[in-house]
Amino acid sequence: MKMETSIQGLSASLQTARSARKIIGFVPTMGNLHQGHLNLVREARNLCDVVVVSIFVNPIQFGPNEDFESYPRTLEQDSHLLAEAGCDVLFAPSVEQMYGQHQRLTNISVAQITNDLCGLQRPGHFDGVAVVVTKLFNMVQPNYAFFGQKDFQQLAVITQMVRDLNMPVEVIGVEITRAEDGLALSSRNAYLSEEQRKVAPNIYQNLKLAEQHLHQGEALVKVLADLRNALSEVGFEVDYVEARTPMLENVEQFDKDIVLFVAAKLGNTRLIDNLQLKYIQP
Ligand code: PAJ
Repeated sequence: MKMETSIQGLSASLQTARSARKIIGFVPTMGNLHQGHLNLVREARNLCDVVVVSIFVNPIQFGPNEDFESYPRTLEQDSHLLAEAGCDVLFAPSVEQMYGQHQRLTNISVAQITNDLCGLQRPGHFDGVAVVVTKLFNMVQPNYAFFGQKDFQQLAVITQMVRDLNMPVEVIGVEITRAEDGLALSSRNAYLSEEQRKVAPNIYQNLKLAEQHLHQGEALVKVLADLRNALSEVGFEVDYVEARTPMLENVEQFDKDIVLFVAAKLGNTRLIDNLQLKYIQP
């Protein structure tokens, strides 16, 4: 595996692959890699000739009171994991390399679907994601890009952006990797205390319970209210509990495929999760 820290070095590394018309797969990350990230890399390995992974903690997608400074940076450990998972090129640019060359005057803003869920609590977050992902797409020029369904709204935003702007890349959503107790793997799980870590799987357990109740015919509003209460009772500060279509449109009832979304805090740690539910015609 090669590691590149400059845009020029990355281009040079990919030149042979490009001229040989190899299929390039790309997995953007912020590092501190876990099995969730590595499953994206494995998926890319299965589908593509050349696998590029970026590690870049993107300052412009963090709010002023968020964890940009303290976000875990574990490049050496990450690079070993990536080499084992079959990554060919690791791109790990500095903030200076990404944003320091000149003043940026261009923004990318996907409307509507960024207005609620995580967009409501994190103003500007998805613009920051859209800008960095576009820059990375332009640097890597991948055929396929892999994103986790864990960040379902992010995946929807990127899919919309690629479609709206005719970006020449195919976006692939990869299912959520969970710990044995159901907790969705996340770099932020490392912030949880031992006690909080025991409480955290309640999100997934209660999502599964909600699914069961919906299949038994309980009303969606009631199921969502019960889910919110159950999480508050075990100590979460609930940010949102919502149901949407997979395109993030509002839903009143479980009469089509839906996704249940949860964002909730344990102490200062904000966890997100979601569950896709198939509607089965009675
Ligand atoms: P990061 O949080 O590092 O996540 C990188 C990718 O890994 C994202 O596509 C995310 O959805 C996926 N991922 C994380 N945990 C996962 C899990 N448990 N199962 C499946 N996939 C998982 O998301 C970002 O970085 C950034 O916003 C980025 C897209 C890199 C732009 O800066």
